[in-house]
Amino acid sequence: METSNGFEIKNLLDEVLLENIYGEIGGLLLSKGTKVTEKHLLLLQKHRLYKKKQEKVPVQQFEQLVDEVKLNMDHLRNLIQSGEGPATEDIDGTVETFSTLLEEMLHTHYLVEFIHLLRGYNHSMYCHSINVGLLAGMIGRILGFPHEVNHILGQMGFLHDIGKLNIEAGILNKPTKLSAEEYAEMKKHPIYGYQILKKNKNINRFVLLGTLLHHERLDGTGYPFGLEEGQLPFCVQILAVADTYEAMTAKRAYSRGKSPLHVVEELKKEAFQGKLNAVIILPFIDYIMRQMLNQEVLLNNGQLGKVIYYFEGHPTKPLILVDNQCIDLRKRKDLFII
Ligand SMILES: [Fe+2]
Repeated sequence: METSNGFEIKNLLDEVLLENIYGEIGGLLLSKGTKVTEKHLLLLQKHRLYKKKQEKVPVQQFEQLVDEVKLNMDHLRNLIQSGEGPATEDIDGTVETFSTLLEEMLHTHYLVEFIHLLRGYNHSMYCHSINVGLLAGMIGRILGFPHEVNHILGQMGFLHDIGKLNIEAGILNKPTKLSAEEYAEMKKHPIYGYQILKKNKNINRFVLLGTLLHHERLDGTGYPFGLEEGQLPFCVQILAVADTYEAMTAKRAYSRGKSPLHVVEELKKEAFQGKLNAVIILPFIDYIMRQMLNQEVLLNNGQLGKVIYYFEGHPTKPLILVDNQCIDLRKRKDLFII
């Protein structure tokens, strides 16, 4: 069997690996220095392989695209708030810019890291829209959907909150708790978004549905209609997971526990409570955790550690390597990842 990078797996038997081998979506399969056995070969055959992890594209290269998307969204906001409304080509142009960014991101393996970096310097709605779009597209990829479907998922995520451009800035950016009337107005943003987009003949119908239904929940507790599982398209359920994960990450950016591992625990709760679909959440969590393998994490005592193993059911308490010592965080109540 030959891998996508053109090296023969069988030739690796008894070899000592000179570099790490990664799976298709970036998880480490075998570390540099491992002597390859028959068992390892079986593992490798189950995966499409990458001889080495794809080079990271510098964040600065993405920043330019992100800035372009923001400029486009500013233009949309002005059109919407002036009452003129965006023309088809205004929305199409904005989506096109985003799609370029998504295309780049779908070929990299560090989405989780990127999202946290972007969130680190930007807290706007633009940042949320971009992140949710990238996440939705990536979840599609994790679930094995075709590339075109992942792009539609990306557009769904990117445009899902467009109705918020119709909400007064005083409500949208209010730093304190919204009053009952303000909250009721805020909850209209899926309807506003649907109204903005439905005039555009080029908009995919799932993008329209995503905008209208992204706050619906499987147990019927969502809004604006209180629909239930059987009434919600699967792609809208993916969007709801991406949106929820991004919102949790944003909330975390201001408080203790910035590591994506903490968000994983919260996200799991949503699945157990029957609000979001576990069929989507579990592979997504698996992806995030594999992305975190070999990554540095900061401990509450100021030390840096490297995640080397996850124990099932304990995403925030992995085995970590600190100063060449293995520490099982499940057993150390005094230490935690922040
Ligand atoms: Fe929303």
